[in-house]
Order: sequence, then structure tokens, then C-alpha cells
Amino acid sequence: MDIRELDVSDPAARRAWFEVMDASARADRPHALLEGFAAFEVSATEPGEHARRLRLEACDGGVLVGVAELELPLTENLDVGWAEVNVLPGHRRRGTGRLLWAAVVDAARAAGRTRVGGEVSVAPVDGGPGLAFAAAMGAAEKHREDHLLLDLPVPAALVDPAYDVVTWRGRCPDEHRTAYLAMRNQMNADVPIGELDLEAAVLDDARLASSEERLMKAYDVRVAAARRRSDGVLGGYSLLFVPHGETYAWQDDTLVMPEHRGRRLGAALKTANYGALPGAVEVVHTWTAPSNGAMHRTNTALGFRVVERMHEMEATVG
Ligand SMILES: CC(C)(COP(=O)(O)OP(=O)(O)OC[C@H]1O[C@@H](n2cnc3c(N)ncnc32)[C@H](O)[C@@H]1OP(=O)(O)O)[C@@H](O)C(=O)NCCC(=O)NCCS
Repeated sequence: MDIRELDVSDPAARRAWFEVMDASARADRPHALLEGFAAFEVSATEPGEHARRLRLEACDGGVLVGVAELELPLTENLDVGWAEVNVLPGHRRRGTGRLLWAAVVDAARAAGRTRVGGEVSVAPVDGGPGLAFAAAMGAAEKHREDHLLLDLPVPAALVDPAYDVVTWRGRCPDEHRTAYLAMRNQMNADVPIGELDLEAAVLDDARLASSEERLMKAYDVRVAAARRRSDGVLGGYSLLFVPHGETYAWQDDTLVMPEHRGRRLGAALKTANYGALPGAVEVVHTWTAPSNGAMHRTNTALGFRVVERMHEMEATVG
């Protein structure tokens, strides 16, 4: 077994790496939501300034049988690496995952990291070997979220009459940027992360702009925000991504600022975004911690159902 680094300058090698990742990760997970090829290409060929990514591949007699990725944050969380290991179903239980993991750990240590974390998503029944593998590699669970799915269309939730909904696609308009940044940073600071000991990313205008630029290459980025009619203050936002050319949406952040809570603005913002989607978009994926009662109830009331559990695992490697 040969473990080597993916040559990201080679388009055919990138495609092959992506295919093995995709087929392996989907094998036991009918509802998996994975990075699409367009987003993978952006990340592989135009690395951002806030993370470095190392991609490894396992070759058995010239055949690619497994892949791994290590993401090294460069701006905050400098003691952490994020890893994912994937081995094709027909090649499992022969030690390939262990070899890839060992290479990931070596690279993480060489970059000065003392912890390696990763997400393991499993379907409720026959979810696959991810958790057993992670445990065998010495990782412990630090946080758990549910992966939920909603079939579209859904009726629009009523908007509290004291507010109207402003929407934009792609780059946040200049007039809303200061308020949007404040809400994004509040979200990063507030989102429940269980026992994960992580620094929240802090966005400034330049970092927001570079993230918007990168995301727009692979996604239709849609934001709905609640504006209080009396003074024009933005009290919450919901962020939705639709990968270009796909029939599903990915519900990312939804935040209502503390003084605007209790008016069901979260549901109103989400359904405002869903109602504006092209008819071809059939489902929405989202993730919510079961401990985040308010958001979980909002989601299930909208019709979201739990299809997977996502376990955030972490191993000490220092
Ligand atoms: C998890 C995965 C990477 C394991 O790959 P693999 O090449 O089969 O792993 P290995 O053969 O090196 O197994 C290493 C150890 O993990 C544990 N393990 C792996 N698969 C297991 C299974 N099906 N049941 C129980 N334990 C298992 C065992 O302890 C095994 O050691 P052993 O064979 O000596 O008992 C592979 O099944 C996969 O790609 N799954 C989908 C993606 C995923 O869940 N990745 C992990 C999260 S990042």
C-alpha cells in the first residue's frame, strides 16, 4: 500500500480523488450531503488564506482505494487539524484507513497541531463503520448534531408585523454589511458546540468579502434578514446555499439577535428563503444540536425530519 499526497495540479488525479471520496462516504449513507465537485475544485485549486488542506491517497497496486484530507486552520485554532478518512467499501478492514489516519496524524504533528477532530455522520440504522473506526483511532465524542431533511415546497411562516424581510443573493449589499457582520459574529460566538474547545472565527469586512467571493464560485448564496420597521435595525438572518446546478439546498446559519427573539422570526426567515428558490430545488438539509431546543423545535415544526446523527470526534495527537 502506497500512501502519497494528491498532486492537486493534475485534473485527472483530482477527479479520481474526488470520486473515491464521494463513493466511500456515500456507501452507508443514503442522505449524505457532501461537498460537490465544483466546490471541491475551488478548494483544491484556489486555496483560501485561512486554511491549508493536505489531501492524501492510498494506492494498492496502482488502484486508488482510499483518500484522506487534513485541514489546518491558519487564523484561529492553530492547535487543531480537521480530518476525514474514506476507504472504498470493497477495500475495507485491510488496514488502509489506519494507514491514512497515521499519515494524517504525522502531518498534523509536523504542522504543530496537538488535536485532530473530525465529523462522523451515521444513518440511524446500519450507519456504517465510521464511529467504530474513530474510536479505534483513539478519538472521543465532543459534540453531536442531528442532520435533518425537509421536502419542499412548504408554506411560508407568517412574518411578525413589526418586521419586514430583506433578501439578497451573493454579496451582502453595502447598506447592510455592518449589521450583517455583527450578526455573523454573534452567531459564531453563540452556536452550541458542546465540549469542543474551539475559538470562534471573527469576521471583518475583508474576511467576509473573501468568503463571499469563494462561496459564489460553487454556490447560489441566499440570505434573508429581518428588519424592524420602526427603526430599520436588522434583528436576524438566515443563510442558505444551493450548489450550482443541484436540486438541494443547504441551510446554514439562522440567528435571531437576543432582543428580537420570541417572535418566530427564525421560521419566517427560513421559509422566506425557501419560497424564493427555483422549483427545481426539492429538499433542504440542515444540522442542529439536539440540545439547541429552540432551533430543533423550529425545524421539526417546519417539517424537517432527522435522517442522520453527526458526531464530532476528537483525538489528542500531541
Ligand atoms: C471508516 C473507514 C475509513 C475505515 O477504513 P478501513 O480501511 O476499513 O479501516 P481499517 O481496516 O484500517 O480499520 C482500522 C480499525 O477500525 C475499526 N473498524 C473499522 N471498520 C470497522 C467495522 N466495520 N466494525 C468495527 N470496527 C471497525 C477496527 O478497530 C479496525 O481495526 P481491526 O481491523 O484491526 O479490527 C471506512 O469504513 C470508510 O471509509 N467509511 C466511510 C467514511 C467514514 O465514516 N470515515 C470515518 C470518519 S472520518
